[in-house]
Amino acid sequence: FSYTDGQEVLHGLDLHVREGEFIGIVGTTGAGKSSLVNLLTRFYDVNDGSVEIDGTDIRRLPQASLHRLVGLVQQDPFLFAGSIIDNVRLFREDIPREEVIRACRRIGADPMIARLKDGYDTRLSNRGSGLSAGERQLISFARILAFRPKILILDEATANLDSQTEQLIQNALNVVSAGRTTLVIAHRLSTVQHADRILVIQDGRIAEQGKHDALLARGGYYAELVRHSRQGRMELPHLAQRR
Ligand SMILES: Nc1ncnc2c1ncn2[C@@H]1O[C@H](COP(=O)(O)OP(=O)(O)O)[C@@H](O)[C@H]1O
Ligand SMILES: [Mg+2]
Repeated sequence: FSYTDGQEVLHGLDLHVREGEFIGIVGTTGAGKSSLVNLLTRFYDVNDGSVEIDGTDIRRLPQASLHRLVGLVQQDPFLFAGSIIDNVRLFREDIPREEVIRACRRIGADPMIARLKDGYDTRLSNRGSGLSAGERQLISFARILAFRPKILILDEATANLDSQTEQLIQNALNVVSAGRTTLVIAHRLSTVQHADRILVIQDGRIAEQGKHDALLARGGYYAELVRHSRQGRMELPHLAQRR
């Protein structure tokens, strides 16, 4: 895959994800993590090879079907001018209010929403600027429960979350990833420590993959990332400079 001709970003990547698997993706800035997951939502298409879901090339799926299959929680989720309810159900009136509230409770967003002026009917303006990045992510997690995609992709927030919000997000991730194929780009080691498989991306390639303990024992690039990460943060400026 390349964004511009002649400048390949992902090289000969071969990845098979099993149904229900929890995949953690780590690597320094610019390694190709976002590029990889962006191919799954067709923000971009591969130049060579294919991306398939259940054996079907996703370029052959109607965009609406793909959106039902793949749910995305972005680093800085987009919120619309509208109530909390409508931001969770994305203005789909056929999703009952009760279901939205149930989703928010399961995610652990209920106390945060209760503190807002009009609770679930609080109107967000200006892309939800009144909420923190972590709170916007919680709303985005509730969307996943309301829409139930088979595959979940999460580009974890890098923003410095306070430890309470961090714990909320971690719990919410456990809830939404249950029984769902999940790919998480992780900036905090703790997020993927228990992943079924961790992919270590380096210069557009899968440099290493496996479980946390096995990767540590291997003493390779992952172990180096872990050693250099302070307080479990994986993306480090000084490592990002290195090739
Ligand atoms: N929209 C884009 N257009 C051109 N190049 C891009 C674009 N997005 C990312 N890149 C380049 O692709 C490479 C991988 O970037 P990215 O996938 O964003 O890495 P990561 O998410 O691991 O930080 C980098 O060299 C980056 O500069
Ligand atoms: Mg990225």
